[in-house]
Amino acid sequence: MRLLCGLLLLLCLVVWATEARKGGKGRRMRSRERSSTTKRFAADCKESTVNGEKFFDCQERHLKAVLLGWPEDIHHLLLARNRIQVLRDNTFSHFRNLKSLDLQQNEISRIEEGAFNGLSRLTTLLLQHNRLQVASEGMLIPMPQLKYLRLHDNPWRCDCQLESLVRFIQVPSNRNIGNYAHCTEPREFWGRQLKKLDAELLCSPQQENVLIPHPDNQPLPASQKKPDATSLCHTYVHPVPRLDCRNRDLKTVPADIPLDIVRLDLSRNNIKQLRPKEFVNVKDLKLLNLSGNSLESIDTASFTGLLHLGELDLSNNSLRYFQYGVLEDLYFLKRLSLEDNPWICDYNIHYLIYWLKHHPGVSHTGLVCSEPEEFRGWPVENYVKTYNADCPIDKQLGQVPGTDPAGITAQELTAEIDEEELGPIPYRGPKKFEIIRLT
Ligand SMILES: *[C@@H]1O[C@H](CO)[C@@H](O)[C@H](O)[C@H]1NC(C)=O
Ligand SMILES: *[C@@H]1O[C@H](CO)[C@@H](O)[C@H](O)[C@H]1NC(C)=O
Repeated sequence: MRLLCGLLLLLCLVVWATEARKGGKGRRMRSRERSSTTKRFAADCKESTVNGEKFFDCQERHLKAVLLGWPEDIHHLLLARNRIQVLRDNTFSHFRNLKSLDLQQNEISRIEEGAFNGLSRLTTLLLQHNRLQVASEGMLIPMPQLKYLRLHDNPWRCDCQLESLVRFIQVPSNRNIGNYAHCTEPREFWGRQLKKLDAELLCSPQQENVLIPHPDNQPLPASQKKPDATSLCHTYVHPVPRLDCRNRDLKTVPADIPLDIVRLDLSRNNIKQLRPKEFVNVKDLKLLNLSGNSLESIDTASFTGLLHLGELDLSNNSLRYFQYGVLEDLYFLKRLSLEDNPWICDYNIHYLIYWLKHHPGVSHTGLVCSEPEEFRGWPVENYVKTYNADCPIDKQLGQVPGTDPAGITAQELTAEIDEEELGPIPYRGPKKFEIIRLT
């Protein structure tokens, strides 16, 4: 009996010991897993070099903090769309070469005064779309080179604590510091721009006086604010400066597109027309996406200045033809998307075909007649060929200088004469056409 009890006890002990060992091992394994996950986090970030500058891309990694072990010689640190809440003193102090720091779309609600210590070369700091209510000028002191500071879309509380920052933003030479940031609190300052706020009022002891209605103190209804690109759209700096204004219900191209933008997405809005020189300052633009708008007309000078544009997406709009000259500035265009537009196959469309013919490097898609009935579904090129084949007399007249409609230059004429297939000057007024028919 005692032996049996002893055996049972022993058995229990063995089982318990085995379980305990298993459990212990399990716990150890879990903790090893955890540390390797952390490592993978760090490794998941991508380092790359563009034009000799090092980028470290840690966007959208669910990060709550800047991790140890990141390369220290980087120039651009991309931390957008993470979950960082607080920036503590000296968080970035080992990144001595840093030129830009992208912290937009996090959950930052507090920045300690020494958070940016050591960033003596930083020129660009993006803090838009966070939860900041207060900040002081002191946090900016370690960054004497700072030129661009974005603070919009934070719930700024415009009181005495914000005074030094507001005064700094308003220094005339700080042109690109804190633009478009608005007060959320107190109520009487709601919607007012930090840039234009009377800093005297922030610390005035009789702040209550401000409550007395004053035309300038009325919050602006959101609909009356002039849409500007940086507050409406998301900006990205990696791998190239990009502005994403998709689906913003825009009726016009927004003002103040940052000058360094390379890719601009304005698709799925409600833009009906492009005005002259809409993009003239955005000289580096390589991709312009206007797909899914209601574009009916494009001014002949709309694309002025876009010398480097490589890709233009105009698909899914209401375009019927291009005015003569619209495309003349697009020297380096490679791709032109034109599908889902009601192209009308009459003489107005000839300019487009003519231009494409003389820019064989441009690949285009979607150029199909939707009207008139007899040409519906035809590739526009085929329609133009038919037009030319039908009118051989045009071919001869077209080559006589002086009989051409205004606007055709000598160079275009020469090029035209070299063409065999396409024949006459494609751009031709209807009157002239009629006169020829009559003779
Ligand atoms: C333009 O935007 C549309 C809709 O957002 C998208 O489907 C299309 O791929 C974009 N075009 C280019 C060239 O990126
Ligand atoms: C065309 O644009 C409209 C409006 O933006 C959008 O709803 C629709 O999905 C687009 N169609 C295609 C084929 O992309």
